[in-house]
Amino acid sequence: MAKRIQFARTGGSEVLELVDVTPADPASGEVRVRNEAIGLNFIDIYFRTGLYPAPGLPSGLGTEGAGVVDAVGEGVSHLKEGDRVAYAQGPLGAYAEYHVLPAEKVVVLPDSVDAETAAASMLKGLTVQYLLRQTAPLEGGETILWHAAAGGVGSIACQWARALGVKLIGTVSSEEKAKLAKANGAWETIDYTRENVVERVRELTNGEMCDVVYDSVGKDTWITSLDCLKPRSLMVSFGNASGPVEGVNLGILNQKGSLFVTRPSLNGYADSRERLEMMCRDLFDMLGSGKVKVDIGQRFALADAGKAQDALAGRQTTGSTILLP
Ligand SMILES: NC(=O)c1ccc[n+]([C@@H]2O[C@H](COP(=O)([O-])OP(=O)(O)OC[C@H]3O[C@@H](n4cnc5c(N)ncnc54)[C@H](OP(=O)(O)O)[C@@H]3O)[C@@H](O)[C@H]2O)c1
Repeated sequence: MAKRIQFARTGGSEVLELVDVTPADPASGEVRVRNEAIGLNFIDIYFRTGLYPAPGLPSGLGTEGAGVVDAVGEGVSHLKEGDRVAYAQGPLGAYAEYHVLPAEKVVVLPDSVDAETAAASMLKGLTVQYLLRQTAPLEGGETILWHAAAGGVGSIACQWARALGVKLIGTVSSEEKAKLAKANGAWETIDYTRENVVERVRELTNGEMCDVVYDSVGKDTWITSLDCLKPRSLMVSFGNASGPVEGVNLGILNQKGSLFVTRPSLNGYADSRERLEMMCRDLFDMLGSGKVKVDIGQRFALADAGKAQDALAGRQTTGSTILLP
């Protein structure tokens, strides 16, 4: 038997239960991974609350982890038992001692990346990869606004932007988070709980405003974000920490300066083995070169997944959070 977290109904963190299961054998094209560390992500909370529907209930939870290949299904050629690996895409069920998933979603880790670092950075780091290198192919010299700059994705983005020579203005909710974002390479920070973000962006950019805004906060920051952009520039809405952006009248993009908007996801970018490998190469290069160092701000036991999610939703975490089986 092995432990896993599952939920039989959507709701608060109390719906998460630690249960004993017999780990399934991998079917054709699948592998079973013995997790050494599991990544905690905001998307796990969206599934738990029902904002994103799970394919069925009861359901496992979590899509990110790292460990060792423990069993290999038929037809899998790029992985073998004992390989050190990581993954960041579905199916749900990574909050577990063992996770069975399609082998094409699993990559072998370079020696330089340990399991905890991988679990803390696969999903978040691949997200930063596509946001900075693909959604808007930044070359250096641009000014961008990044909300929640001291969070898991934000901490990696600050460092990656600095490495690219991009001026990242990061929003944060406290002085401590501002210091952290600055230490990670944010060019400037704005405390969006007490400062006027649009005015501060105007001052910092001498009235020019931003080339791209990256907004994962959603509902609370949507209009502010649009107001921080240069005419004809790009709004990237990639998350819902405060709730989803709904009911948008497209005319607002005209009013705010003929803006472009996109609502991307990791699965939409890492949608083939080739693309996943390309993005992982870029991420592992950044980690291996030390240009991006993964800050694991919190570690929780797997059994305390609910507490970990409450801390993330309650804005009490900084950097990445991992669960340890
Ligand atoms: N589309 C994609 O491909 C993709 C992939 C990965 C992550 N994401 C999104 O990126 C965001 C960051 O994910 P993460 O796992 O790294 O989380 P995180 O940034 O570590 O945590 C979320 C942060 O959002 C800020 N926040 C603002 N308003 C909030 C509210 N009402 N409730 C809770 N938090 C609020 C908080 O920072 P402050 O206290 O500083 O405000 C909080 O620490 C999430 O929205 C997630 O869904 C999207």
